[in-house]
This record gives sequence, C-alpha cells and structure tokens, in this order.
Amino acid sequence: MKGQILVTGGTGYIGSHTAVELHNAGYEVILVDNLSNSTIEVVDNVAHLIGKRPHFEQVDCLDYAAMDALFTKYTGIRAVIHFAAFKAVGESVDQPLKYYRNNLISLINLLELMPKHGVKGLVFSSSCTVYGQPDVLPVTEDAPVKHAESPYGNTKQINEEIIYDTVRSGAPIRAILLRYFNPIGAHPSALIGELPNGVPQNLIPYLTQTAIGIRECLNVFGDDYHTPDGSCIRDFINVVDLAKAHVVAIERQLADKQSEPVEVFNVGTGRGLSVLELIQAFERATGVPLNYKIVGRRAGDIEQVWANPDKANKVLGWQAETSIDDTLRSAWNWQLNLRERGIQ
Ligand code: NAD
Ligand code: WQD
Repeated sequence: MKGQILVTGGTGYIGSHTAVELHNAGYEVILVDNLSNSTIEVVDNVAHLIGKRPHFEQVDCLDYAAMDALFTKYTGIRAVIHFAAFKAVGESVDQPLKYYRNNLISLINLLELMPKHGVKGLVFSSSCTVYGQPDVLPVTEDAPVKHAESPYGNTKQINEEIIYDTVRSGAPIRAILLRYFNPIGAHPSALIGELPNGVPQNLIPYLTQTAIGIRECLNVFGDDYHTPDGSCIRDFINVVDLAKAHVVAIERQLADKQSEPVEVFNVGTGRGLSVLELIQAFERATGVPLNYKIVGRRAGDIEQVWANPDKANKVLGWQAETSIDDTLRSAWNWQLNLRERGIQ
C-alpha cells in the first residue's frame, strides 16, 4: 500500500472513478462526501469494484471542525484530491452565493487544514471553463483566463487564484490544477457513472435519457455556429481516462517531482467533436437511434473548445486512451443499468 489519499466529493461522478483507479494503483482511499449530489450506494459499488470497502466519511467540507477531526483520525493521509463542489452552471446563475460559499469555503478549509496536519499535496478539479472562448485552438495551459460566464465558472477561477496566493505566501503546499474538458462516459462495469439530478443540463445524460425514452427529444442548441457542421465543438474526455490523470498527478507529487509549486494541466483528448458528430457516433456505437432536433442557441455557450494536452503527455506521461465509441457505449450501458436498477 502506497499510503492514504483523501478524496473529497469521493462519491461523485469523477471522484468515484478516481477512487477505483487510485486503488488499482495501490493507494488506500478515504472518500469524503456530504451526499448532496450523490448517494451512499456509490460506496457499495466502489467496494464491489475494488474488492473491499473504502473508508467513507459523510462530512461536509464546509465543516472545519469535522474536517479537522478527519485529518486527525486518518494519520496516513499523503495527499488530497479535491472534487467536492457544486457544478450546475444554470443553478449558479440563480443562486450565486450558494456556489461561492460551497466552492470557495471548502477549498479554504482544506488549505488551512493541510499544513496543520502536515499534508502537502493537493490535486484540484479545475475546468476548461476558465478559458472561455479561447483565441487559439487547441488551447494550451498558458492561454489567458477569460471573464467567467457564470458564478460556477468564476468559483473555478477564484479557487485557482486562492491556491496560487496561498502557495506564494509560503504555505507548505504543492498543488496540481487539472483543467478538465468535457468528462463523459462511465466505468466499463456500468457500476458507477454520472447520476444527474432532475432534468440533465449536460449533453450526454440528456442524450442517453432520450435514447432510453425518459425524454422525448434531444434539443441540439444551435447549428449556425462558425464550425464545419454549425453545431458547437467540445473535447469529450472519458471519465476513466480522466480518473487516471489524477493518479499520475498524485504520483508526481508524492515523488516530489513537481518543478513548480503550482502546476496546471489540460485534461482532454486533443480532439474536438461537434455535437452533431457526437450524436452520429452514439448511434453508430450503440445501434440505438436518437430522436433529436435543432433548436436555438443556449445562452452562454462557448462555440468551440478543445485541448492541447501535450503538457500532460510530456510531463505526466498521461494521454486519453479510450475511443469515443467505447466511451459512448459505456454511457449507454450505464443508462441501461440505471433502468435495470429502477433508478432512472
Ligand atoms: P459531482 O457532483 O458528481 O461530484 C461532486 C461531489 O461533491 C458530489 O458527490 C457532492 O455530493 C459532493 N459535495 C459537494 N459539495 C460538498 C461539500 N461541501 N462537502 C462534501 N461533499 C460535497 O461532480 P463531478 O462531475 O464529479 O465533478 C467533480 C469536480 O470536477 C467538481 O469540482 C466539478 O466542478 C469539477 N468539474 C466537473 C466537470 C464535469 O463536467 N463533470 C468538468 C470540469 C470540472
Ligand atoms: C456540451 C454541448 C451544448 C445539452 C459544461 C460546463 C463546463 C464544464 C463541462 C464543469 C454544448 C450542447 C447540451 C443539450 C445540446 N463543467 N447541448 N443539448 O456546456 O460544454 O460545459 O460542462 O466545469 O463548465 O459549462 O457541457 O454537456 O452542457 O454541453 O445541444 O441538451 O452540447 O450547447 O454545445 P458544456 P454540456
């Protein structure tokens, strides 16, 4: 065993997949989650996948005393991966303070507690949202951070700044900021995946819910963009590939190999796929026809963005491996599994 890794938001979509990959790489995971956007069954499903029950603590990261007690209880914590956050862009516009409180204070608590308990390594979930509409594509890590389109996006930018300022102040912290592009898909076992609350806002859960008949029709938001087929372009990254990026980031920190106290990496495939291309790929990969129609643009959408992932490749030795067809099949199998279990 290589030591304990504290995973906040550990029963969430990306956190649960990362827990499995950390275990596969020889780490002991401690999952912390307040279950505001996930369920306790995820712990059972992770246990099933890793062959043992992971440590799980139902704790709110906003609760400083409870987090302090957690660091005291687990003396072997070597690094923290901080996923816990609210992430619904639209909701953040309606309830900005809910987002600022949760996403900022959770991080601040960690940055205060880590030095107190002698934990140096932090891997933080950032987002390609910080680039807005980049001037140059594919976008590299040194592209300027653009004015955030939503309070949610702003929390990611402010969190990045909080981390930089804290490290600059001399705090004994080494941070790796992973800027995810569009995570999609599920574990190939179909035991863990994304569990959207209510009507999905993101493309893939809406698409699979349409394909299975929960929704009548997928609305494609706009076909008049300046892209080859007129629909928006994104970099869709498989969630297991994304989880593995966290493992290599942790390995780098624990081996004391960081060249800067704060390092930033894009985590994407390097390929842009349009919304219409993605729909075609889904139908091809699964054989399931999809009912969709073109509607007007969605306010706030970026026209096109995809990653230049060269830095993660060179420095972390990481690259996306899963094909889009396999990824879309995994998303579909997850949807079928939710139906079988009577969840959706
Ligand atoms: P998710 O909602 O599935 O997981 C987040 C988990 O954090 C949930 O289980 C939730 O219950 C928990 N949580 C929220 N606030 C908490 C708190 N105060 N204390 C304890 N637990 C709390 O989301 P996800 O898709 O797994 O995203 C994980 C991280 O990655 C987030 O920080 C998100 O902003 C970031 N991110 C996600 C995407 C994406 O498209 N999914 C893209 C870029 C960045
Ligand atoms: C993808 C494309 C839509 C739904 C969001 C956040 C971003 C990051 C990832 C966390 C867009 C189109 C969607 C639908 C559609 N999250 N679409 N019909 O907007 O790229 O990014 O998640 O950091 O911050 O903003 O993802 O999945 O919502 O949309 O046509 O029903 O699919 O217009 O072009 P997005 P998405």
